[in-house]
Amino acid sequence: MNIAVQSAQLGSVDADAIVVNLFQGTSEPAGATGAVDQALSGAISRLIATGDFTGKPNQTAVLYPSPDQQLKAPRVIVVGLGKRDDFTLDKVRQASAAAARRARDLGIKRLATIVHGAGTGSIDPSRAAQAVAEGTVLGLYRFDELKSRSTSAGGADEEDSTKKEIEQLIVVELEQAKLAEIEEGVKRGRHLAESQNFARTLVTRPGNLLPPVALAEETQKMADQVGLQFEALDSNQMERLGMGALLGVAAGSDQPARFIILEHNPPGSEGQQPVVLCGKGITFDTGGISLKPGEGMWQMKDDMGGGAAVIGALRSLALLGAPQRTVGLIPAVENMPSGKAIRPGDVLRAMDGQTIEIISTDAEGRLVLADALAYGQRYEPRAMLDVATLTGGVVTALGHGAAGVMANDPDVVERLKRAADATGERVWELPLWDDEYKRAIRSDIADMKNSVGRAASAIGGGMLLKQFAKQVPWAHVDIAGMAWTETDSPYKPKGATGYGVRLLAEYAAGYAG
Ligand code: BES
Ligand code: MN
Ligand code: ZN
Repeated sequence: MNIAVQSAQLGSVDADAIVVNLFQGTSEPAGATGAVDQALSGAISRLIATGDFTGKPNQTAVLYPSPDQQLKAPRVIVVGLGKRDDFTLDKVRQASAAAARRARDLGIKRLATIVHGAGTGSIDPSRAAQAVAEGTVLGLYRFDELKSRSTSAGGADEEDSTKKEIEQLIVVELEQAKLAEIEEGVKRGRHLAESQNFARTLVTRPGNLLPPVALAEETQKMADQVGLQFEALDSNQMERLGMGALLGVAAGSDQPARFIILEHNPPGSEGQQPVVLCGKGITFDTGGISLKPGEGMWQMKDDMGGGAAVIGALRSLALLGAPQRTVGLIPAVENMPSGKAIRPGDVLRAMDGQTIEIISTDAEGRLVLADALAYGQRYEPRAMLDVATLTGGVVTALGHGAAGVMANDPDVVERLKRAADATGERVWELPLWDDEYKRAIRSDIADMKNSVGRAASAIGGGMLLKQFAKQVPWAHVDIAGMAWTETDSPYKPKGATGYGVRLLAEYAAGYAG
């Protein structure tokens, strides 16, 4: 989809539909919506008066001007913004997505929209425009690369609907003074949302189509396109580095592991301490010898969701020309049971020399990330994050509402919370108190053990990773409840969410200057 910014009166815009908005409880539309209402001889006001449209969040209605009504577009889509008091940037993302999806259902090719929130919502025009672009691009996301139309089980209707695509979004603003800011916001929003969609596609691709080598190849292709430095270490190279924890997990699989390294080194950033982002890249998690139950196991293709978030974030930083030097480290491994697999009771030695007793081969994410964090030390990072679908425990604690954050440094947590406020990707802190929780990872025969059982299991994962962050300001982000959704919402269609892409990009960018 192409996105254009145009300075014009809404009525004169040449498009298949124009989108305007309404706050809940408004009886007389004002601003751009008011102007369109007038052109429609009060049709929007009547829509409200009948009670058919209240303006509740993401409600949509379609109106059809008559030829003499001074509107060039043949349709007007009205979208609800909810109550004025509850208005946030996220409502802009949602409303933009809801309107765009309604338009796509109608088969519309060229869609014009006002910048929700920039008028009477009094949000900064650049941020509002960014949210419009984000909501639209994210809301229209579909994964259709594996549907062959002739054999689709969905029947004729579904086949038709998958052909419908919006070709152009026209963002309309009358005030010349706001145009440059809106252009800038639209560009940011598009790069961020397209990068998030890239991550969604990686997560949705099943384990057989995206094993570690394929993930590395896809990442390299992307890196070449956007100008990121790329490297992927193979097993021999990892062996030489002493990455025994990662290689222990890899041992059970016939799919060779890769350690993916992405670097965003913007001009003038030489000598700058980078932000290092590590993402769990388990391309499929069977649990290994500690085999998972079969029911729902298919979803463990999303166990590289942290890695995909890091890859997507680096992509967007490159496209935006962000000034902060940033490194992405993705240990890409498949966790399988076999005669070569590690056993419960085995002890592995990580790259920094620390030893880990394996209690469960299903607690594999912390093992591959231990080596990633150890490798990350060589950059002398300003700060380091790891992002991972690490534990069922975090889903028990927070459900699908927020990622769990655990850290060794309050400033990192503060920055993450600020980034989350801006992007609408919620985080919630859990404690990593040494005096309370360190004993849980104590092992009788090694430096630590990899599983703590049911009590505080999310924190158990965080405590192990903390041993590898050492002196670097660090946070662990457990996204096990966030990488996938079974509920459809306007800009988060059912399936892979791409959670973390915008959060990590915003977080890293926060270190610039
Ligand atoms: N990938 C899983 C965690 C997971 C669970 C992600 C549910 C998404 C949804 C992880 O590797 C795992 O198996 N964790 C175990 C750890 C336990 C053995 C200490 C868990 O949480 O049950
Ligand atoms: Mn596991
Ligand atoms: Zn896992």
